[in-house]
Amino acid sequence: MAKSISPDLGRAALRALIKEGSPLGPLKVMASHIGRFFQIPLPGFRPYVVFGPEANRKVLVTERDKVLWRNTDPVTDLLRQGVLIVDGDEHDLYRKLMEPPLHPSQLSGFTSKFISHTERVTSKWQDGDVVDMLVESRKIALLIIMDTLFSKDVWDDIPLVWTPILKAIKYISPGMWILWRKMPRFGFRKPLNVLDKYLYGIIADRRRQKADKNQDLLQHLIDADLTDDIIRDQMLTMLIAGHDTSTALLAWVFVLLGQHPDVHKRVIEEVDSMEKSPLLDQVIKESLRLYPPIHIGNRSVAEEMEFNEGKVPTDERMFYSIYLTHRDPEIWENAENFCPERFARGQKTPPFAYVPFGGGPRTCIGAAFGQAEARVVLAQLLRTYKFEFADHKIHPHMGATLEPRPGVMMKVTSRDCEHRLG
Ligand code: HEM
Repeated sequence: MAKSISPDLGRAALRALIKEGSPLGPLKVMASHIGRFFQIPLPGFRPYVVFGPEANRKVLVTERDKVLWRNTDPVTDLLRQGVLIVDGDEHDLYRKLMEPPLHPSQLSGFTSKFISHTERVTSKWQDGDVVDMLVESRKIALLIIMDTLFSKDVWDDIPLVWTPILKAIKYISPGMWILWRKMPRFGFRKPLNVLDKYLYGIIADRRRQKADKNQDLLQHLIDADLTDDIIRDQMLTMLIAGHDTSTALLAWVFVLLGQHPDVHKRVIEEVDSMEKSPLLDQVIKESLRLYPPIHIGNRSVAEEMEFNEGKVPTDERMFYSIYLTHRDPEIWENAENFCPERFARGQKTPPFAYVPFGGGPRTCIGAAFGQAEARVVLAQLLRTYKFEFADHKIHPHMGATLEPRPGVMMKVTSRDCEHRLG
């Protein structure tokens, strides 16, 4: 059994909730007072939380047969048989089909698309505009994922799909449904139908073309003789998992650069003078440590699991916390501080202490893609625009991913003239 929560601890957790404006505050309080194993005391929902290298290794590798990815929440309703939330042979089949087009060896072929979609989005900016980098990053990530995986250009369809995609993300984000699973949820059916129609349309078009000129992810699914429904499930999974995460990563990097002008300046110097910027890589890694877009892994326990600090009984819900692992002071020096240099060459972290992409056989299928995309898109943006942070209070919001809210407002000015003068 997990230790019970004292009234003092309850009050400290409440204060942290108010101060940080997010449940991450109380989670940190519970972790520091109780340790790497505790239960969240919500009415009707008492999930176990585990974190740290040993627990992560157990959940992700050595005892992963004791847990299920599938459970009964809105993610399962939305993604149905998507690779992210099925188990066993079914999972392995879809995963195997989708690995080749995302293999690191394929990534250099995507670089020009990463750049061109970034340019399309920035082409709408006027000098002096204040743009929300959370929104702009989403546009870039959306155009990229649809083009690279399904060879679909959504530029002209953004007005059609934008709200449905945001609704899909809202549908799976934590909310009151956690406490009242069957609560009626209004306003989702119509937009989700629009999104489905759009995806089924892409599948139908591709089947009509009967061409395999595109060896993209969609073609791999079609060639495997899957039904339209199963293909839709994989497409929606990749669309959500593959762009909402990148959106959050890009947006957090802008927050961190905005809050740390010295690092911002040094990154610009590097991207201007070098093809590959080691400091930018370190900034991306440190951003993924402090604000991992997927901050927890959600599991249903199929067979009792034993951790150093206690047991999780069968049929309970368990989260392994990436966020708490990444901020554990026993692992990280100055864990709360932004310090990209900690990822400088040669500096090692213990295994399973840094898990922004999960780990083991079900590690993120798009890990290499997501990192390559972030490197190229950020370098392109920083080389071509000057970004000035409109310093405003930002808090991490627990949506489907961890997002900087209310947004990342930045004044943008083209660096064209600066380059000409230089
Ligand atoms: C910065 C970008 C990204 C981050 C931080 C991220 C993070 C993660 C994490 C932590 C997991 C494991 C979750 C768990 O253990 O429960 C995961 C799984 C997954 N991710 Fe990503 N991801 C990113 C980008 C992408 C991209 C670009 C794609 C698609 C192209 C993608 C598709 C998936 C899929 C399908 C899974 C499930 C894999 C499986 O169960 O076999 N992700 N991701």
